Amino acid sequence: MKIEVRYLSKSGNTAKVAESIAKAVNVSAEPITVPVSDDTDLLFLGGATYAFGIDDKMKQYVSGLPQTVKCVAVFTTSAIVKSAFGQIQQALEDRGIKVADRAFYCRGEFRVMHKGRPNSDDLKKAGEFAKTVI
Ligand SMILES: Cc1cc2nc3c(=O)[nH]c(=O)nc-3n(C[C@H](O)[C@H](O)[C@H](O)COP(=O)(O)O)c2cc1C
Repeated sequence: MKIEVRYLSKSGNTAKVAESIAKAVNVSAEPITVPVSDDTDLLFLGGATYAFGIDDKMKQYVSGLPQTVKCVAVFTTSAIVKSAFGQIQQALEDRGIKVADRAFYCRGEFRVMHKGRPNSDDLKKAGEFAKTVI
């Protein structure tokens, strides 16, 4: 089973989650600037909420994702709003790309909010999530 992990992370929170997921499934986590291979069975794709939505670069990434990717499992972080998952899911489904039923979400530090998140417990849960998906 070919597994890949990609993320978009402006301040490092989603990147930490990506690293945990990648470690749990024995692959490397890469930013979305690194293309996935056409024979990807499962892509773990991570993003965050910025100004109530997902970043344009994430939208562009999903638009260009090869439709040969068989399934995408989404993980997201945010300070408050949990809608990034739904937005990434919708963008994937609009392209006819299957989205895994299970997704992972945790809080991410933002200014004075949620200091230290994702914390070690969040990262442990992210690794467990990844193992459950595969
Ligand atoms: C420019 C900016 C805008 C943000 N806007 C929101 C927002 O509208 N709603 C929210 O819940 N969190 C918001 N956040 C918090 C981020 O979603 C949170 O810190 C997330 O973990 C960042 O992930 P990253 O470190 O991988 O970039 C914002 C953060 C930044 C830097």
